[in-house]
Amino acid sequence: MRFPEDVPVLTDADVTLRAHRPADIDLAYAGCQDPAMAEWTTIPLPYLREHAVDYLTVQIPDGWRNDTQYAWAIEVDGKYAGTVDLRDGQGGVGEVGFSVSPEVRGRGVMTRALRLVLRYAFDRLGWDRVIWRAFVGNYASRRVAWKAGFRGLVTVPGGGLARGVRKDEWVATVGRDDELEPQGHWWTVPELEGGGIRLRELRDSDAQRVQEACSDERTQYWLSGMPAPYQLTDAEGFIRSRKHAQASGDAVAWAAVDPVTDELLGNVSIFDLQHRIDRTVGEIGYWMHPAARGRKVMTTAVGLVIAHAFKPIDEGGLGRRRLVLMAAEGNTASAHVAEANGFTLVGTERAASPRRDGNYDNLRIYDLLATDI
Ligand SMILES: CC(C)(COP(=O)(O)OP(=O)(O)OC[C@H]1O[C@@H](n2cnc3c(N)ncnc32)[C@H](O)[C@@H]1OP(=O)(O)O)[C@@H](O)C(=O)NCCC(=O)NCCS
Repeated sequence: MRFPEDVPVLTDADVTLRAHRPADIDLAYAGCQDPAMAEWTTIPLPYLREHAVDYLTVQIPDGWRNDTQYAWAIEVDGKYAGTVDLRDGQGGVGEVGFSVSPEVRGRGVMTRALRLVLRYAFDRLGWDRVIWRAFVGNYASRRVAWKAGFRGLVTVPGGGLARGVRKDEWVATVGRDDELEPQGHWWTVPELEGGGIRLRELRDSDAQRVQEACSDERTQYWLSGMPAPYQLTDAEGFIRSRKHAQASGDAVAWAAVDPVTDELLGNVSIFDLQHRIDRTVGEIGYWMHPAARGRKVMTTAVGLVIAHAFKPIDEGGLGRRRLVLMAAEGNTASAHVAEANGFTLVGTERAASPRRDGNYDNLRIYDLLATDI
């Protein structure tokens, strides 16, 4: 193909994709000074103006001429706002990469640009599948990919490479016959308040309190799957894993906090939201910081999340029909939380709750139907 004459202009109501121009160089250079670009992409660091000159005037034109990489300038409000490219399409499968400048982020620009290039990949290049890759933790990129229909996300340990350093990577794909729409839920964590407590999303700054709560003797006794000893890094990993579980549609977790000091008092989650046979159920799990026990905090917290769980999805809830809660026989505090919230004891599984000493407790199964309340 000839550059720039043969570069197709792709456009929807708000975004235009077109060939890069020398006039874009300064904006491309400025955009690459953003810390998010350093963290989440493989651009050279420090990023010099000559890098932008080389990318826009040599690499991108060569990609079109040699049919190896198809990169478009993203234009918004008449100005260069980023770049999106398709590359490595041998055998009908290729990759997409993208970035937009900080000023236009969060307006859906990238999602629209991505749908435009996906249609181009499938309809004009004849590709069968497009691969998206991002370093683990790049939730803005993951959300764009999710919104444009990428699916089957997996984590590849050490799969990414940035300036000689290996990083864990997320990979997802979308196929030519797939709908370019989100697959599954990306749960949000609404703030819920009542009964003198607040429930909010877990934050990195909660790690110390999480560690204290999870290394407590009683927590360790009843939740025998917890790492022992429970280190600060375990707490940090737990907080990170909840964000991933929410984005994957698997679970929603809240920190129960003191509404005045914001100190974490406990944790409550609804998980198994993608149960293998019934997507209308969810399981409730929780633990409390030892210093906050005995004040009905968890009874109140569970009451708040029940209401959220039964609320329809189109009203911002989880659209559940049935909730399950399990407690080892003998864990009277946990049984009390279930019973105080109207759960029914529906049975006891024998020798189903592993203890650290190698023995098993019976496991009490409680449930609550939306029709119960
Ligand atoms: C990734 C990037 C291109 C997104 O561009 P954008 O125009 O803001 O994308 P959109 O507005 O279409 O969508 C972004 C979505 O992510 C959400 N988002 C942003 N940061 C987020 C975060 N940390 N966690 C969760 N969601 C986040 C936004 O709220 C928005 O979702 P919404 O429309 O449902 O509100 C932009 O952030 C960027 O250029 N980052 C640096 C480069 C980069 O990471 N490139 C990808 C490498 S794989």
